[in-house]
Amino acid sequence: MTTRILSGIRPTGHIHLGNYLGAIRSWVSMLGQVDERLFCIVDQHALTTAEDAKDLRKNTLTIAAAYIASGIDPVKNHIFVQSHVSAHTELAWYFNCITPMGWLSRMTQFKDKAGKSKDQAMTGLFVYPALMAADILIYKATHVPVGEDQKQHVELTRDIAQAFNNYVGNSFFPLPEPIIKSETARIMSLRDGAKKMSKSDPSDYSRIHLLDDNETIDLKIRKSKTDADLIPGSVEGLEQRPEAKNLLNLYALFSNSSLTKVVQEFEGKPFSEFKPKLTEATINHLAPIRNVMIELLADEAALLDYLQKGAEAANSIAAANIKEVRHALNMV
Ligand code: TRP
Repeated sequence: MTTRILSGIRPTGHIHLGNYLGAIRSWVSMLGQVDERLFCIVDQHALTTAEDAKDLRKNTLTIAAAYIASGIDPVKNHIFVQSHVSAHTELAWYFNCITPMGWLSRMTQFKDKAGKSKDQAMTGLFVYPALMAADILIYKATHVPVGEDQKQHVELTRDIAQAFNNYVGNSFFPLPEPIIKSETARIMSLRDGAKKMSKSDPSDYSRIHLLDDNETIDLKIRKSKTDADLIPGSVEGLEQRPEAKNLLNLYALFSNSSLTKVVQEFEGKPFSEFKPKLTEATINHLAPIRNVMIELLADEAALLDYLQKGAEAANSIAAANIKEVRHALNMV
């Protein structure tokens, strides 16, 4: 069976370390293991939360640059913008017609984002998971690498695929498998170790942006929250110390080591001694990526050209599949 992965990031706010370590870097690590690889910048999803859609164009191009600079070759992989392949929204409509409202009401991301006044929430936010299912199934993707927070949406995608298959009476869509990244790739806020590093945190000091310069990275790490205790000799010693754990974990990720080894290396040291080392490791890893991103963003025509080629490749798969979908639905 051909294996095909698809994943995507919403172009909202600044792309940060959590997106990189939690998503892009893990995609890069699996490039050699799958037959076909699609990486989408899901701009239509960004429109579901109006406050995020302000700099849509700039953010879309920045994510494209981040994908490429992180090692996703745009010639060997399909990097494209969701809105450039209109079959996504068409398929989403068909899915809306077979997806009970109850399934969508149970989505925790909807509940979180809609807040208390569900009646005021926009329809797009509510049906977002059906569009996400379409993003995946329009390519008959077999695997979807995502963070833990998106697991529920991929499970819903499987339910929608099954509902469609039942409706048309055959196994039209494969049921895609989520590939959930390990706990270590969950990057927390630099200000609060209980919160995920997030674009929506009002404080810039809570996260490192991929485009931050070296001085800014240094400053953010210096200001990051820790506690007064020394670094323990074992991972268990980090149990009640989420900020400390997060910083040590970042160091492990950047030095291709494990948390166990890192605590052994720094046992008994204060954070004032550890932080400069973390800054150095972070800059060593991120500066080359940032520099390539800056170069790519400086030549917008070339970047748009990559995206157009990606869209053409994606479109040739999607167009064939949407034709089959219409046929399966008995449309003229
Ligand atoms: N919902 C995902 C998120 O918020 C983004 C996304 C949209 C996605 N479509 C997708 C992820 C398809 C994987 C596959 O992070």
